[in-house]
Amino acid sequence: MREMMWIFAVIIFSVCETWGLDTGSPQSTLMLNTSSSAPKVYVVRNASFNLGSDVGLTCSNEPRSEVMFVLWKIELKYKQCSIAHNNDGQSEDSCNDGKSLRYTPTAVYLHIPNFSNDDVGVYQCEMVYIGGSDAHKINVDIIAPPSISAWLEWKGNKMVAVCKAERGKPAASISWSHLENSSSLKTWSGSDGFFTVESHLELPENMDPKNLSCTVRHTYWEEEKTLVPKLTAATRPHFTMMSIRIVVIIVAVLAVILFFAKKKLRCCGVAGRETHNPNLCW
Ligand SMILES: *[C@@H]1O[C@H](CO)[C@@H](O)[C@H](O)[C@H]1NC(C)=O
Ligand SMILES: *[C@@H]1O[C@H](CO)[C@@H](O)[C@H](O)[C@H]1NC(C)=O
Ligand SMILES: *[C@@H]1O[C@H](CO)[C@@H](O)[C@H](O)[C@H]1NC(C)=O
Ligand SMILES: *[C@@H]1O[C@H](CO)[C@@H](O)[C@H](O)[C@H]1NC(C)=O
Repeated sequence: MREMMWIFAVIIFSVCETWGLDTGSPQSTLMLNTSSSAPKVYVVRNASFNLGSDVGLTCSNEPRSEVMFVLWKIELKYKQCSIAHNNDGQSEDSCNDGKSLRYTPTAVYLHIPNFSNDDVGVYQCEMVYIGGSDAHKINVDIIAPPSISAWLEWKGNKMVAVCKAERGKPAASISWSHLENSSSLKTWSGSDGFFTVESHLELPENMDPKNLSCTVRHTYWEEEKTLVPKLTAATRPHFTMMSIRIVVIIVAVLAVILFFAKKKLRCCGVAGRETHNPNLCW
């Protein structure tokens, strides 16, 4: 039956070719090793997926029954690999990282479970089906939410509110409920392509920071997130330094008192029996 299909397909292709239709070069792409015969025209598109999601990349909308051969060539940051399958049951997977070809009655797609930054890269697919072939090149990127925090800190004797969104992709945006135009924004990007955004807002002396809040927006979230910057123990250098000094002084005073008390106790406790040598005491 399979053999019949192949023969049928080849006949169809030959017919198409004699009619001058553009079918790529299906005869040679029928082999698993297609490195030499890849169609040269790719449909290029970009796609971004949420961190942790299960992704299905499609190459073509041909129904499963029509598909004869699928090849995905995947170029990731640290490796290149390929996954291929033909309807003769031959398959190849040099990725070995959980990606797989999946067949449903209506489509054939590449399944990427639990999408992570390691899956970011260029995905090229070639698909041969009865009547034609498709080649797609998909630039795949990740959407990862930043971790967010906000606090108040002292800069000299001015209070500064800070709002931070760490390691997001793409970069998050930060806005303030008050005094938006006196804030300053800094953005860093790491070598792994993640962005950290930090906004500083210097508060006027008479301002009560109670009502101040910052809002962080990111495409990963359906809703924006609002934070109220608070003074925390760790961000109160003035008070921390002062309390450390006070503790040190108290400990020193206690140590001195203890030292003399002990000395006196020893002398005086012993004094009852050794009254003959009072010089030992002080
Ligand atoms: C695939 O084809 C290339 C050149 O066309 C050849 O060098 C290579 O050995 C082939 N690989 C396999 C596994 O057949
Ligand atoms: C997805 O991957 C992350 C780390 O890469 C892991 O911590 C988590 O457990 C995985 N989730 C599932 C459902 O496999
Ligand atoms: C911010 O904008 C307000 C009006 O929108 C203006 O009165 C104020 O001077 C601006 N502050 C700075 C620091 O630009
Ligand atoms: C803070 O908000 C409350 C009500 O939400 C308002 O009554 C108060 O005037 C605000 N304070 C400042 C300093 O804006």
